[in-house]
Amino acid sequence: MSNPYQYAKANQGRFLDEYQELLRIRTISTQPQHADDVARAAEWLKAMMLRIGMHRAEVILLPEGRCPLVLGEWDGAGEAAPTVLIYCHYDVQPAEVADGWDSDPFEPTIRDGRLYCRGAVDSKLHVMSNLKAVESWLASDAKPKVNIKVVLEGEEESGSENINAFIAAQPDRLTADIAMISDGAILAPDQPSLTYGLRGITALELHVQAPISDLHSGHWGGSVHNPIQALSEILAQLHDENGAVTVPGFYDDVVAVTAKDRALLEQVEPYLQAEWDDVVSAPALWGEAEYSLPERLGARPTLEINGIHGGYTGDGMKTVLPARAFAKITCRLVPRQDPARVLQCVVDHIESIAPKTVNVDFKFGGMGAEAVLLDVDGLAMKSAAEAYTYAWGIEPVFERAGGSVPITFECMKVAKEVVIMSYGLKSGRAHGPNENIYLQNFYNGIQATIKFIDVVGEGRS
Ligand code: BES
Ligand code: MN
Repeated sequence: MSNPYQYAKANQGRFLDEYQELLRIRTISTQPQHADDVARAAEWLKAMMLRIGMHRAEVILLPEGRCPLVLGEWDGAGEAAPTVLIYCHYDVQPAEVADGWDSDPFEPTIRDGRLYCRGAVDSKLHVMSNLKAVESWLASDAKPKVNIKVVLEGEEESGSENINAFIAAQPDRLTADIAMISDGAILAPDQPSLTYGLRGITALELHVQAPISDLHSGHWGGSVHNPIQALSEILAQLHDENGAVTVPGFYDDVVAVTAKDRALLEQVEPYLQAEWDDVVSAPALWGEAEYSLPERLGARPTLEINGIHGGYTGDGMKTVLPARAFAKITCRLVPRQDPARVLQCVVDHIESIAPKTVNVDFKFGGMGAEAVLLDVDGLAMKSAAEAYTYAWGIEPVFERAGGSVPITFECMKVAKEVVIMSYGLKSGRAHGPNENIYLQNFYNGIQATIKFIDVVGEGRS
């Protein structure tokens, strides 16, 4: 077959079958009982890399990790040619029918041009779009003019601690001229976007304990500070009435939103507002009123309470005065905020406001990543814009995404340029029930990666 674009179009049906095969494997990195599934998927991906003609492929079990990396290399363009590193993650978040799925979360189901399955958008869409783009190049007569490395991570959804250690220990394995981080979402099915920023993250658990064990609330209520109440009192003080975080030092290093950011983000505002109305649909907007929606979602840091637990929550009544309660907290960070420093600010503040009637304690999961902000005028970004324009027939706009892909900041140390290429949609319900993609996004994504490799190889970037 003479050209990769045609090859991809001619093989769409088989590509879709293979994508569904990968979706059936329960690669849940946060649940230890799925370690074998993750390992099976890693072998499956390695076999695919070799089958599509990559020169080398390896499953790498990281020293502390449960879920391996898969690294494939094709270096047929020669030493003088640039190298493109493609990063995606193949692990997924947990999913149960009871969460509200209309079909089995691990059985891909196609309805009205959409494919529903856990991992469909986050991020097996990206794994398969990119592998199938590479396959299309290697199977056609025209060969890529760039060398290609593909690295697939198996523990992105659980914090990426080990891949960053791998990069630090063996930076040569992932060195590249351009690192393409392929994850995330575009704005709308007919409006592609280029993500030029990702937020960082830091996490902690706050444990509050008062009596040494659960008590009868009649015997002891009124004599001891209820840990759920004390926890609520602490949590309620972490934001002011305008939605700003009250932790001293929290905003110290935050880079201000620039006029250029404002101008770029104004273009995405209507899409994000429409998405908010559709997906969020809360009674009213909340948050820092002086910032627009896209600024709040991508350019401002936040402190979020992700979970709270304590006492009796089963059927009926239980007049208990619980011994303990805890909350899980994460902060989304923006450029220049150091995850460790922000964490320390939060801990210090909680310690200073915690009532003396309870004991507080912290647990740290080790999850930490710095935010990234990419140059919208860089060469890689221009090549990516050309790729989206080709695949969608529409020029992309520029967005700062609110999520985190922890490896991105580290990649900036081993690659001359970094670019983020996303093919999913926010309405794809990543992490939620009925996660899905439009099949068209998969096919467009394949064409976009083919084009990106083409443009970078031609040096037209
Ligand atoms: N695909 C997301 C990251 C993302 C979300 C990028 C939205 C752009 C827009 C990724 O799989 C993810 O969920 N990352 C986690 C990282 C965390 C577990 C350290 C996140 O952002 O919560
Ligand atoms: Mn995710």
